[in-house]
Amino acid sequence: MKVLVIGGGAREHALCRSLSLDPDVTAVHCAPGNAGIGEVAQLHPVDALDGAAVARLATELAAELVVVGPEAPLVAGVADAVRSAGIPCFGPSREAAELEGSKAFAKDVMAAAGVPTGRSYVCTTPEEIDEALDAFGAPYVVKDDGLAAGKGVVVTHDLAAAREHALACGRVVIEEFLDGPEVSLFAITDGETVLPLTPAQDFKRALDGDEGPNTGGMGAYSPLPWADPKLVDEVMATVLQPTVDEMHRRGTPFAGLLYAGLAITSRGVRVIEFNARFGDPETQVVLARLRTPLASVLLNAAQGSLDLEPPLRWREDAAVTVVVASHNYPDTPRTGDPIEGLDEVADKDAPHAYVLHAGTKHAGDAIVSAGGRVLSVTATGKDLAQARERVYKAVARIRLDGSQHRTDIARKAAGE
Ligand code: AMP
Ligand code: GLY
Repeated sequence: MKVLVIGGGAREHALCRSLSLDPDVTAVHCAPGNAGIGEVAQLHPVDALDGAAVARLATELAAELVVVGPEAPLVAGVADAVRSAGIPCFGPSREAAELEGSKAFAKDVMAAAGVPTGRSYVCTTPEEIDEALDAFGAPYVVKDDGLAAGKGVVVTHDLAAAREHALACGRVVIEEFLDGPEVSLFAITDGETVLPLTPAQDFKRALDGDEGPNTGGMGAYSPLPWADPKLVDEVMATVLQPTVDEMHRRGTPFAGLLYAGLAITSRGVRVIEFNARFGDPETQVVLARLRTPLASVLLNAAQGSLDLEPPLRWREDAAVTVVVASHNYPDTPRTGDPIEGLDEVADKDAPHAYVLHAGTKHAGDAIVSAGGRVLSVTATGKDLAQARERVYKAVARIRLDGSQHRTDIARKAAGE
């Protein structure tokens, strides 16, 4: 099978890496990709947001499956353009991607499907905003209705800051604060059959101890030794299957990856958000643990035949990924710095460690930083403690001027 992956971050590097190791896959292509993806896939300089151009590329390559990584192309209808060209595509339609593209739409679907989530108000006027903030009290949770690349959500005790963010958004969802640990649970679906993946936890804040600003994600691990073993079954029954069924009932079936961002509160599981694609950096650890070859699962999801797939198989190993970010991420990340030590990450002290590239590119003979999140260094081990030890040994071998990373990814879960 020839596969074309759309996107250029560490999530897409993880996808391309897994596909390149799949015996069913004869060629992996990626557009636009990055310097690291270029080592496992053939790169094509095509704009990921341009549906016509992506469909043309897929046709030229005789791709048998297109996998769309990021949300922006999905919300722009790139998967529809590929399907119109007669090529199977893993990724929801523009209409179904509204589950991520509009928080108000997601709340409406959850209400109709009886999915547990925080109480919320959709507000458009200053009066509505003040009433909603007053009704919930601090801490305030204010979410831009539309896509905002991880910058749309403000959680704060400061009423003035909550109000200011809400007024700047236009349409805004104001929600009750949900306490408790967060879990990311992904499911692959063809619009009817739902296949859950293994849960992971993401670290959203920039600094150790969950301090600092929200980011796209600074690290992740899987499995979650502290989680209830029945969690996946429960979320399947109360969240994933009802949501997929509701989208089907509305005539806009959701086929692709449904990402449930969950809070495990004292009153039970609540959905914090849906995304319409694989999470980044959780995918890096989830795929590190997936034993089932990926391509046929994604193709069956794209073709409406996921019921043919047996349950997914997982390695016993634990996986940890640590994001190495640029100087000044997430504010105004500095780019163009050379990255050294990439070839030195794995040896007998840090086996099963590898580097997935996020924002990197070639500059002459060098590889330089080209984005806020630069690398996702990943390692597996017999447990989280061993995976942590290996991943941090690998991180220490990478030299990138001014770079930052969290030192506490999976620390608590490893019992340290
Ligand atoms: P989102 O973009 O919806 O994932 O929100 C980003 C982050 O904000 C989440 O991962 C949570 O850490 C936090 N957050 C979002 N909604 C809530 C909520 N209702 N209560 C507490 N924290 C939240
Ligand atoms: N890691 C969070 C996300 O992918 O949205």
